[in-house]
Amino acid sequence: MAERAIEAVVLDVYGTLFGFGRLVERARAIVGDLPLLDHWRTKQLEQSFLRTILGEYVDFWTVTEEALDAVCAQLELELMPEEREHLLHGWLELDPFPEVSGALELLRERGLRLAVLSNGSPAMLESLLQHAELDALFEVVLSADAVRRYKPSPAVYALVPAALVVPPERILFCSANGFDVAGALRFGFQVCWVNRGNTKLDALGKQPHFTVHSLLELVEYL
Ligand code: LAC
Repeated sequence: MAERAIEAVVLDVYGTLFGFGRLVERARAIVGDLPLLDHWRTKQLEQSFLRTILGEYVDFWTVTEEALDAVCAQLELELMPEEREHLLHGWLELDPFPEVSGALELLRERGLRLAVLSNGSPAMLESLLQHAELDALFEVVLSADAVRRYKPSPAVYALVPAALVVPPERILFCSANGFDVAGALRFGFQVCWVNRGNTKLDALGKQPHFTVHSLLELVEYL
């Protein structure tokens, strides 16, 4: 049960609202069985953390490009320019998980305010949400770009209570990413881990308030 009444539900994007299936297919068509996307995503996060620690911000599109190039260099993989472009554009055309739109509608029907908080750049988020026709469901779409740091920096989470004018303990933050669960708990949100892969949580030993396997399951709690 919630500790205090929840007024707003805020969601992470990559891995939480959107899966990587289509991007995995694009990568497979180009590089076969090599788990390029796993390496790419890991490098993308690593570089976003590194840039935040060093205070050397570039936007998430650039981080994503640089991560792909770094991983290809490490794997000694030479992509044709059009293959590189095709993979990068995959980030703008991911599919939402099947239950997302229905679950968000139900949350809204319960009077909850909905927002997005992502490391994605504003242009990436706009393309992605429009492509999936989810943009109209959110009151605000917040990007880490506004503070030129990446999650799990507290400065990024602080965008949410400022935008919604709701205290953190009345906001439920949902993420499938362990680092994001850790950051959101540290910040003071109520937190829901969306355990989509049926895995163990890697969040510095911190425990979320809720754990679900899909957002529909979350609707039952609220
Ligand atoms: C996001 C990535 C990091 O912020 O999952 O959407």
